[in-house]
Amino acid sequence: MDFHQLQQNFERIFQRKEEPRMFFAPGRINLIGEHTDYNGGHVFPASISFGTYALVLPREDRNLRFYSMNFPEVGVRSVSLDELDYKDSDQWTNYPKGMIKLWKENGSPTPFGADILYYGNIPNGAGLSSSASIELVTGVMLEGLYDTAMDRIQMIKLAQRVENEYIGVNSGIMDQFAIGMGKKDHAILLDCQSLTYEYAPIELDQHTIVIMNTNKRRELAGSKYNERRSECERALSDLQKKLSIQSLGDLTEEQFEAHKHFIQNDIDRKRAKHAIYENQRTIKALAELNAGNLEEFGALINASHRSLQQDYEVTGIELDTLVEAAWDQDGVLGARMTGAGFGGCAIAIVEKQLVSTFEKNVNETYQSKIGYVPTFYKASIHDGATELLNEGSL
Ligand code: GLA
Repeated sequence: MDFHQLQQNFERIFQRKEEPRMFFAPGRINLIGEHTDYNGGHVFPASISFGTYALVLPREDRNLRFYSMNFPEVGVRSVSLDELDYKDSDQWTNYPKGMIKLWKENGSPTPFGADILYYGNIPNGAGLSSSASIELVTGVMLEGLYDTAMDRIQMIKLAQRVENEYIGVNSGIMDQFAIGMGKKDHAILLDCQSLTYEYAPIELDQHTIVIMNTNKRRELAGSKYNERRSECERALSDLQKKLSIQSLGDLTEEQFEAHKHFIQNDIDRKRAKHAIYENQRTIKALAELNAGNLEEFGALINASHRSLQQDYEVTGIELDTLVEAAWDQDGVLGARMTGAGFGGCAIAIVEKQLVSTFEKNVNETYQSKIGYVPTFYKASIHDGATELLNEGSL
């Protein structure tokens, strides 16, 4: 899909010939630091070249007309800027509606309506944050449409509230932050407690990042996700009876080992162990990467997967098969699931020259065990959400 095709679609759907403005927000992968964001720990994500495009033209009335090329069967949905409450029947448009509602409640202007066409090339249900991508592309689109700048961190927090309060998924801030603040060829080490962050160049020498989709949809992900969150919250409140800490991310491995018996429930203790060790692994991973110690960086990535499998229990047979098959290949520095888990995608850091052999072998192993094939994508690390000012950048 190129710029002209998107523009033609816009013209056909909305019957308008003026040239629309175009905005883009990427998806994300997370290199390491999984299920640590809502535990006050660190994450290490990067925004990718797959993402969501939004084309927009202003209207003279206060209506918003939405169309997604990914859901043509839904057709054009029309709502008023003054009636933006969540409705099941509004389907995918609840994401942009939620964003516009909170933009408005924030006191930002909404003087007129708009026609907006969305197109996303993030594989659906792959756990690469298509929903945060829609939220952020809507945010930058609103800035352009109404000629009003919003502080980027404020926009990121607004998008997280859309997810938490409007959609009802209790997710952390990682996805919106990675997509809002992404930088080409860099990952972001973010401390989710203080929101301090630093960019780290991703220099992998002879290696590249391969994204591997299990093609298992992340069903039940929402409810299991919220369950993990409550298990961690219970573990924290047990620990807080003895320790003065704000989040699990405040603890080192040694402090956890010395106090873990205060956590009443065995399951909660395992979940907390993952959150605390994973946070420390993430901090170490940045140090290893900066020092050019790629083997050690890869070993931390592998350890992250094991911990998500054994202690956090969010992997499942599909992700484990994919990651273990990746570990068995030549030229692989490390591999792990990425995102919430329960299906979705994994990443592997693979020697460039061996990528096609890698894909062939992993494909075979996965298909013979799972019964269908995975999909592989090459990830390039992209800038965060922005207006696209020239069509060459599509
Ligand atoms: C999802 C959530 C994030 C984060 C990850 C797990 O992507 O949206 O906030 O919790 O899962 O690391």
